Amino acid sequence: MNILAIETSCDETALAVLSVRGLLHPKFTIQAHQIASQADLHAQYGGVFPMMAKREHSKNIVPLLLVTLKEAGMLIQKNPIPWTLEQKIRETLAREPEMLELFLKEIPHIKKPNIDKIAVTVGPGLAPALWVGINFARALSLVWNIPLVPVNHMEGHVLSILAPEKNESFGLASLKDHLPAISLLVSGGHTEIVLVKGIGTYTLLGQTRDDAAGEAFDKVARMLELPYPGGPHISRLADMAREENIAHVAKLPRPMLTTADFDFSFSGLKTAVLYLVRDMGGIEKISEPTKTAIAREFEDAAIEVLVKKTLSAAKKYKAKSIIVGGGVAANKELRKQLTTAATEFGVPITFPTKTLSTDNAAMIALAGYFGKKVSLSSKKLIAQGNMAL
Ligand code: KG4
Ligand code: ZN
Repeated sequence: MNILAIETSCDETALAVLSVRGLLHPKFTIQAHQIASQADLHAQYGGVFPMMAKREHSKNIVPLLLVTLKEAGMLIQKNPIPWTLEQKIRETLAREPEMLELFLKEIPHIKKPNIDKIAVTVGPGLAPALWVGINFARALSLVWNIPLVPVNHMEGHVLSILAPEKNESFGLASLKDHLPAISLLVSGGHTEIVLVKGIGTYTLLGQTRDDAAGEAFDKVARMLELPYPGGPHISRLADMAREENIAHVAKLPRPMLTTADFDFSFSGLKTAVLYLVRDMGGIEKISEPTKTAIAREFEDAAIEVLVKKTLSAAKKYKAKSIIVGGGVAANKELRKQLTTAATEFGVPITFPTKTLSTDNAAMIALAGYFGKKVSLSSKKLIAQGNMAL
């Protein structure tokens, strides 16, 4: 079977086609994987504005579908036949005028692709952005008569470690030896520790009480006048400070490091950086080397808490593996320290590939494979900004 997946929860419009062969021992292959990132647009404003993200998704998603189908070898042009569904499509896409126009222009010209299921992210994320993907999925489902599967974005991140790069097929054979697993999910919107007993069996053990880890990286980057999204820039400066042995500037707090729960708090750490910068006379007074030292201390503080809590969860629940997901999983120092800690504890640790650590639709397709089909009128097909795993 082939699954088309749609992801619009934040600032990436992402589509993918995943093929699955075999029932007992399914083999998966990512046939197409496309992302239209809005990062450059949001960078000008220093953050993601939901209504702006919505409009961008709405403009980009139809052209991106054509590219995705082409990449999967499924784009076949045809002469359009008169559409009896036009009124229904107009109703379905009434709130996405930019998309509606492109949809009516392009979709009648393409033949129904060989797709058996459409998986779409319904939450958590920015509700206006999520709605674009959901309405697009509903419109395609109407036109092509293909069933829909709602997907939780965080389940996508949990499962993202299963997939290798595009075009390499993969199975689930080794999965059972790795369960239960502790999954650390760290992104711009989330910081969660999840106990994974099986695919579909998740327990949220703890989460951030305020800012997400990626959000803290982004906010601190802003204080240091680094571009958005700031995570990779902080990481680059921090690495520089380590390589060049730049002296420490101050000790920043490690919030909730010693609490017995698996919750996090990054807002105090972020504020501590704010005060530090202020006490040094403002960012204009701070030299480049000192900036790198601040980035390093911030990164060390955030990572220390993430690593410690992940490992205590792994110990408490006798995890057989640790898996990581989300944009912050790309952080080099976090990878290094988590790997060392997991190795000491004696369990394997798996990170998603670089392309699958940030938001993408391949992971949504994978979660969609295991998800349940719903009808077009289902209550499960509504945007759920705060959807829990
Ligand atoms: O998963 P993701 O692409 O989108 C969300 O669902 O949020 O994560 C994006 C977040 C941003 O906050 C970004 O700054 C952070 O991941 N990030 C990093 C790194 N690369 C991306 N944070 C720290 N170090 C990195 N190398
Ligand atoms: Zn994400």
